[in-house]
Amino acid sequence: MSSESAIERSSISDITLAPAGNQAIDWARLHSPVVDGFVRETLSDGSLEGKRIALVVHLEAKTAFLATVLADAGASVVVGGSNPFSTRDDIAAALVSRGIEVHSIRESGYEAWEKDLLSIADTGPEYIIDDGAELTTRMAKHRPDLFAQLKGITEQTTTGVARLHTLHEAGRLACPAMAANDAECKHLFDNRYGTGQSTIQAMLNLTNMLMPGKRVAIIGYGWVGRGLATYVRAMGGHAVVVEFDPVKALEAFMDGHVVAPMAEALPQADFVVTATGGLRAVTSRHFGLLKPGAILANAGHHDLEVDVESLARESTEVRDVREGIEEYLWEGTKPLFVLASGALVNIAGGLGHPIEIMDLSFAVQGLGCYELVTGDYEVGVHVIPKEVDARIAAAKLAAHGIGLDEPTADQSESVDDLLGPQ
Ligand SMILES: NC(=O)c1ccc[n+]([C@@H]2O[C@H](COP(=O)([O-])OP(=O)(O)OC[C@H]3O[C@@H](n4cnc5c(N)ncnc54)[C@H](O)[C@@H]3O)[C@@H](O)[C@H]2O)c1
Repeated sequence: MSSESAIERSSISDITLAPAGNQAIDWARLHSPVVDGFVRETLSDGSLEGKRIALVVHLEAKTAFLATVLADAGASVVVGGSNPFSTRDDIAAALVSRGIEVHSIRESGYEAWEKDLLSIADTGPEYIIDDGAELTTRMAKHRPDLFAQLKGITEQTTTGVARLHTLHEAGRLACPAMAANDAECKHLFDNRYGTGQSTIQAMLNLTNMLMPGKRVAIIGYGWVGRGLATYVRAMGGHAVVVEFDPVKALEAFMDGHVVAPMAEALPQADFVVTATGGLRAVTSRHFGLLKPGAILANAGHHDLEVDVESLARESTEVRDVREGIEEYLWEGTKPLFVLASGALVNIAGGLGHPIEIMDLSFAVQGLGCYELVTGDYEVGVHVIPKEVDARIAAAKLAAHGIGLDEPTADQSESVDDLLGPQ
């Protein structure tokens, strides 16, 4: 598509922002050897030629780079953002300048965001690369005819995969889906190291505060919670973990963190970070437990993990005190601070995951989509084949100049070794 017709079809903030966005995409490319190498080569066999792909992931430079690789492989790509707070308007403009249709404007509000997602649905995609199943669920609900024609979905997040399972169990999934999140090259690195580093970075940058000595309550000790706790400790802070699942709580304990219920964790917390994948991890019954001046942030997919709606209802005053920080005067007496309006703090209030991490996650998403195009998958939720996972990891290691030995026959026991010759 020419940039003129992409401008005509798109809804973005300002096309003149494109130069800065293009620089950021080029920088992302420079540090994405797997997507720019192994993935690009795999996709270039013509299989994606003319395929209509909707890419709805947090719209920033790394996502945009994936969009360009899909377009270079011949796909007709339409792009949107998976959260109304995380879109970078310069990146959206850059994609349009490269002839890719985009529907997303930063902080345009939930209503406009929904409208943009439906505009993307109306282009009639065959494949969706989704985040949080945001486009998938809206197509299923508002565009059932187009949803029924989908040929495949790949899904980035823990929350989105859970939503796909919910649809499938209810008999409402109409095509095969690839749980990119469940690939090892995704959750082992993105959820843990990527979210861990970028969330703590964003919290400290937004507040301009110091980590050593801080008590950080981490709600949820899944992949993301583990990463958060690792980085809190690495920077001199103290993680206090809250978990429902006894096995994960025990793991947090064995990892050397304090484990406590909300009633004990919150009163001592300087920062509270949610990473549950659910709703209302911090809500009305918890606000009274927090100490005055506590800072609340969310790393999970839902904007309501920290229940900002209830907090606003129970506060006498809400005001912006610094870019990305809102102060709530809870019950007219206690100041509580919320980062990035309760949206994913590392993306809405920071630069998102490090590029090298998204190089892995987007390799999984890109190759997951390729698998759906070229493979023969039934309706249901699948994981990319183990050998594809392994090839992504090998490509990443090779980009670091690291080669591996292969096992030889004498390194494993044969039945003769075990039982003697027959
Ligand atoms: N910010 C990002 O960039 C980013 C990156 C990856 C994943 N995510 C999102 O982060 C969330 C967590 O992902 P994950 O992979 O760690 O999931 P996970 O399922 O591995 O872990 C979630 C943990 O939270 C626990 N939990 C749930 N509700 C709880 C509550 N109210 N109190 C205490 N513990 C609770 C669960 O028992 C579970 O152990 C998801 O929404 C996911 O989509 C965000």
